[in-house]
Amino acid sequence: MCGIFGISGKIAVSSVDLCIAGLKKLEYRGYDSSGIALLNEGQIEIVKSCGKVESLEKRVLHLKDLKAVSIAHTRWATHGGVVEVNAHPHIDNEKNLALVHNGIIENFYELKLYLKKNGVQFLSDTDTEVIAHLFSHFYDSNLLNTLKRVHEKLIGSFAVACIHKDHPNTLIVTKRDKPLILALDQQKGQIIVTSDRNALYEGEFQTVDLEDNQIALINENTLQLYDQNGLITPLQFTPLFVKNTSHDKGEFSHFMLKEIHEQPHAIRRTLEGRYDLENGQILLNLPKNFKEFFPKVSKIALIGCGTSYHAACIIAHFIEEFVRIPAQAHIASEFRYKEGLTDESTLVIGISQSGETADTIGALREAKRQKAKIFCITNVQHSSIIRESDFHLMTQAGPEISVCSTKAFTSQLLLLYLLTLEFYQMKHGFLDQGNTWIQNLRTLPSLIESVLQKKSLIQEIAKQTCQFDKVLFIGRQYMFYTALESSLKLKEISYIFSLCYPAGELKHGPLALVDENTLTIALLGHAPTFQKTCSNVQEIQARKGKIFAIAQKNQNLEEISPDFAFKIDVSIAQPLLPILYSVVLQLYAFYVALEKGHDIDHPKNLAKSVTVE
Ligand code: F6R
Repeated sequence: MCGIFGISGKIAVSSVDLCIAGLKKLEYRGYDSSGIALLNEGQIEIVKSCGKVESLEKRVLHLKDLKAVSIAHTRWATHGGVVEVNAHPHIDNEKNLALVHNGIIENFYELKLYLKKNGVQFLSDTDTEVIAHLFSHFYDSNLLNTLKRVHEKLIGSFAVACIHKDHPNTLIVTKRDKPLILALDQQKGQIIVTSDRNALYEGEFQTVDLEDNQIALINENTLQLYDQNGLITPLQFTPLFVKNTSHDKGEFSHFMLKEIHEQPHAIRRTLEGRYDLENGQILLNLPKNFKEFFPKVSKIALIGCGTSYHAACIIAHFIEEFVRIPAQAHIASEFRYKEGLTDESTLVIGISQSGETADTIGALREAKRQKAKIFCITNVQHSSIIRESDFHLMTQAGPEISVCSTKAFTSQLLLLYLLTLEFYQMKHGFLDQGNTWIQNLRTLPSLIESVLQKKSLIQEIAKQTCQFDKVLFIGRQYMFYTALESSLKLKEISYIFSLCYPAGELKHGPLALVDENTLTIALLGHAPTFQKTCSNVQEIQARKGKIFAIAQKNQNLEEISPDFAFKIDVSIAQPLLPILYSVVLQLYAFYVALEKGHDIDHPKNLAKSVTVE
């Protein structure tokens, strides 16, 4: 989604080169247009382009020699279509200032009407443009005072960076509910402003995460931070060493395929150092204050979006079944608008690969307001979710580039299994069958490897089934939640319309959809309900529906003789099966999308980091 990159301070190199490099590092978030603004011979110069940053790069060649304060942006459309005029930066009518914005201004329409009444002409359909005109409307030659007044008028979430013709060396920024980081490169004297640390170039920085409502003024001599009353606030720097790891696909055609294959490694790394096999214990090294709080926990709420929500569903089931504490999974965007779901005895576990998902962060804030304790699981160090949480644990999946999440999901599951086992340990003082659990977890990487070895069979099934345009996923218990995730994977990259139901629910409605043009993917892995799910499969077959069954080696499929089948050679604890079934269906979704010739790593309309509500 949208990304901000700006430079100020003592600028040592070409601003345009620096901005383009920063924007390219923001590309992974997903965007549809980009732009740059800087001062050239006393005038604000803006260049924008739809499509890839590469096309913007070609348009800014004439500005390459400038070392000027600059702002740049990647836009993911929210208000207004993907056309150049809607790309950022935006300007006021007099072309005195330019600004970029991440977030959503909820009262933009009301502000727009007010500004129009005052003679302002709007060029774009964006909410952002009102900020530029409002700035111009309130401008009294003092950037700080003006931005303070603008800030007070805005409702919604925003990170804003602005340059003004009258203050040629100054960059002014502010934020509410969106991340904005100041990164001082002491060696070069440059100061970068960005919404995402990933945009930084290799080097050593002193960083400050802006707090909500703070304003920072940056020029070649000073970096000054102000609170919402305009009073100077001391800067507290955190050192950051950025080492650029190149993201290449190696031997793979797509990042998604590479990341599917990285799962054994990601799981090994996430497990590393977190158990004691000899004594059958989990060692998550949770802090003392968490251990003191845990006996008071009366319920657990697991919160996430999309794939992370599916991890929440699987683990809520496991916590209830194994630890016997009431646990429920919640979709973050729903949870945050429900009253009274949490209190001081609630443990809330926020799950987010990126650590930046606006809905998840909003839900955790709401839970905190209702006095719950917040624990988070994320894959990204320094991400916003960590700052919102009382406790956190990191998955070790490594950067996930493909928009479609794979290795982050299975690593989340692994870490959440460990956390659940640790909960049991804390509750009972020991882990029942600890060695067996740990052995099971340790065999997961090799079991995933054996699924990967059979990928050509999955590809063949994908080739033979990719023409179905109605796909139904069914499963029971753990397999239902796994099916939810698999159905999402297929939708995201193949654009096939797919639905997911608990197998027993079909006869209550969805069975009406079934005919010879429907493919049902039946996840038969839950042993206690295997027979029942087979009966549901037969109900589908009686209506001429086609079946792709996924089962374990020892499960006899003769009775249903599915049209397509994949068997997993495993003997592993039931709750851990979702990891293996997910890998099979990640590969299936990938190969279906490949058959269809889609841009698998960048599915249409989607972004990697979803930073708006
Ligand atoms: C699906 C996918 C999304 C994300 C969701 C939450 O493949 O990647 O559904 O899981 O947007 O993202 P995070 O985990 O970063 O909060």
